[in-house]
Amino acid sequence: MCGIVGFTGRRAAEPILLAGLRRLEYRGYDSAGVATIDSESRLVVRKRAGRVAALEELLSQSPAAGECGISHTRWATHGPANDLNAHPHIGGAGRVAVAHNGVIENHAQLRDELTRLGYVFQSQTDTEVIAHLIAQELKKDLDLFSAVRAILPRLEGTYGLAVVAPCEPGVLIGARMGSPLVVGLGDGEHFLASDSSAIAPHTQSVAYLQDGEVVRLTADEFNLEHLERGSIVPRVDRIDWKPDDRELGGVPHYMLKEIYEQPNTVRDACRGRIRRGEATAQFGGLNLTAAKLRRVRRIVFAACGTSLHAAKIGEYLIERCARIPVEVEYAGEFRYSNAPLDDRTLVFVLSQSGETADTLGALREARRRGHPTLAIVNTVGSTIAREADGGIYLHAGTEIGVAGTKSFAAQVVVLSLLAIYLGRLRHMSFTAGLEAIDAIESAPEPLQKTLAIEPLVVAAAERIANSKSVLFLGRDVHHPVALEGALKLKEISYIHAEGYPASEMKHGPIALVDPETPCVVVAPRGPLHAKTMSNIEELKARRGVIVAVGTEGDRELERRADVFLPIPDVPEIIQPLVAVVPLQLLAYHVALLLGRDIDKPRNLAKSVTVE
Ligand code: F6R
Repeated sequence: MCGIVGFTGRRAAEPILLAGLRRLEYRGYDSAGVATIDSESRLVVRKRAGRVAALEELLSQSPAAGECGISHTRWATHGPANDLNAHPHIGGAGRVAVAHNGVIENHAQLRDELTRLGYVFQSQTDTEVIAHLIAQELKKDLDLFSAVRAILPRLEGTYGLAVVAPCEPGVLIGARMGSPLVVGLGDGEHFLASDSSAIAPHTQSVAYLQDGEVVRLTADEFNLEHLERGSIVPRVDRIDWKPDDRELGGVPHYMLKEIYEQPNTVRDACRGRIRRGEATAQFGGLNLTAAKLRRVRRIVFAACGTSLHAAKIGEYLIERCARIPVEVEYAGEFRYSNAPLDDRTLVFVLSQSGETADTLGALREARRRGHPTLAIVNTVGSTIAREADGGIYLHAGTEIGVAGTKSFAAQVVVLSLLAIYLGRLRHMSFTAGLEAIDAIESAPEPLQKTLAIEPLVVAAAERIANSKSVLFLGRDVHHPVALEGALKLKEISYIHAEGYPASEMKHGPIALVDPETPCVVVAPRGPLHAKTMSNIEELKARRGVIVAVGTEGDRELERRADVFLPIPDVPEIIQPLVAVVPLQLLAYHVALLLGRDIDKPRNLAKSVTVE
């Protein structure tokens, strides 16, 4: 989603800002811009709709000189993606430039007020009001920091802000309310970013801003204040950064690279978490004793998208292994639903990015109501990770493809281990615990084998690529796998796809079945296999085209399917982990055949920081 990068120091800002924006590209955006203060204290602004490459092209013709500046990638909320709506926005005819992440909910009121004062708006964005409000304060002879501070209480909604002004060259202001912002501390220079990955190549010393904090940065100074509590001493953390984290290494897309990383993802998610001697799992950061966990009577998982599908798999596994009732809630609904939760309910949120606004909102709502809140998160140091009472990191490494793949695998592994841990605190036997652990630890091998069926998946993709709509079906724990397969396909190929329990077909969706609407059925061997086979017969009777993901050697299924995608015969607990791989590859190859922008699909963002 929107990204911010700022810099102040003693070297050219433009290359640093551009490189930072490039590192944020994976988050999804539709326009980009920079604003710098040049050596003659003039404000230079360059913006372009489209990719950072288009901005780069513009800058190659008209550079933005200066050693202090801000930059932004915008994901349109108010007004379409065009040059005028791109950030930074200018206030008071060149007095100040502002880049903003978040949404200002009272922008219409503020716009009316500023229009009455004579300000002329260039864009349709909510952000431009911030720029004019600051300009108005600067007219009162306030310094830039005081001017920003003065207007913040007037903003309703969420913001991460970066501000520069020609009246104070070399000064970079940041402010945070609900939208992440981090300061990078360099040697005689400072950085500001919405995501530490944007500045990580320059410095690994960072200070995360909290809501209500405003920062003033120059090359040598770093002053931090809270809007109500005044001056504060920043807490500096170190981030991990590996220079090769983002190399494609010859693979054409990040999505494909990340699909292929999944055997390792499983190993990393298991590392240090298995206590074989006691046939259980362990988690360092849960911050809840075994005695407290034994008292838990209900678990609520709140998440969005792919993380929600992983949570649904967790629901089956925990209910099966630990017999604790689990409910999975859309995070964006949970926070407003006022669902009854008793004092023995444990609330988990799941998020790859750790920044999803809906999921953060659910976490805050659960905490407000006095529940211990736990998070299953990939991004270390993210807002959700920092605000939860305890949690589990996925250790999946940076996921760059907008479509979640390896993070899903890591979530499923962590949830499987959690199911075993909770089960072993109750009535799961030593033998059952050990069998489940063995299955999870052995998963990398069948995953590797499944990746090898990619050529068969290409054949399936060819059957699907011209369809207008595709149905994904599965029973039991394979229903969330089907949901995930449908989500992957629609996200990156733009083909309409829906996931259903196979049993539900006859209650309506079967009306859609015809030779032009393929059905992808997830049907590995298991207790409900015969039932799914009957559902396949029902589809075939309506001339449905069947792409089946099933256990290798399942001749009966192979005979009935138009395309059969075999996965190894694995224990039930890891079937979802393995069965989702052909569906990820299927979405990838359909998108490839259709020439889609696989790693940056239209309209989508990697980290959805607006509600
Ligand atoms: C799908 C996808 C999204 C995210 C959702 C939640 O491929 O990536 O559906 O899963 O936006 O994101 P996180 O997990 O970062 O909270």
